[in-house]
Amino acid sequence: MGLTLPPLAFGLITGVVGALLGRRAGLDPWWMAIQVAFPLGILAAQGAPVPSWVWLSLFLVLVVVYWSTFRTQVPLYLSSTRVRQALVPLLPAGPFTFMDVGSGVGGVLTDLSVLRADGEYHGIESAPLPWLVSRVRIAAGRHRNCHAHWGSFWNADLSQYDVVFAYLSPVPMAALWEKVRAEMRPGSTFISNTFVVAASRPSRTITVDDLHQSTLHIWTMPGA
Ligand SMILES: C[S@@+](CC[C@H](N)C(=O)[O-])C[C@H]1O[C@@H](n2cnc3c(N)ncnc32)[C@H](O)[C@@H]1O
Repeated sequence: MGLTLPPLAFGLITGVVGALLGRRAGLDPWWMAIQVAFPLGILAAQGAPVPSWVWLSLFLVLVVVYWSTFRTQVPLYLSSTRVRQALVPLLPAGPFTFMDVGSGVGGVLTDLSVLRADGEYHGIESAPLPWLVSRVRIAAGRHRNCHAHWGSFWNADLSQYDVVFAYLSPVPMAALWEKVRAEMRPGSTFISNTFVVAASRPSRTITVDDLHQSTLHIWTMPGA
């Protein structure tokens, strides 16, 4: 249009247009602040005396930590220590198998393997760096009853486990519930940290006294 704009004005216009398009495309309102700030952040970063490989490295770290979060809508955040402790009384008496679907950096597995050493703990994680951290953590702590698998829990056979634990997001819960119902054995237990299943009321809920007042939703599979 023959206009010459100062970089700041151009950044602001780009951000506002991005925010409006993002909102129209269905992003939550809080994304708008990020959309506006993002081009301004790029402009500020261009003036910083930072070599370009630093930005590339930071980007690659984010890729291996968050991997397919843009698709799964389940980012990495961790169950609190109190949640892990609250899981202990929910575990079956005697030897049992446990699966953490989306096991992050493996903390649920390693903590429980100490608190209840008679369990066999499995976790499946799709993001490479958290999975690698779990493997190192399990090996370094000699947690012989812990196993971290790299892959998608959609491909895991949940009939193998007495307890399945999930701390995900609202997005996959309806489809996960279908998988749980189709595959988990009668009498086995499904536990979701925080996120509910619209189609089914849990058999029990427990509020945990941690920073977020986390809630554990517990379902016992019928037919036992
Ligand atoms: C909120 S974190 C929970 C971590 C851990 N379970 C805990 O409670 O501390 C959810 C994890 O699920 C992983 N995830 C999301 N979708 C997945 C999928 N389809 N298969 C395997 N992992 C998945 C994410 O990469 C993320 O690390």
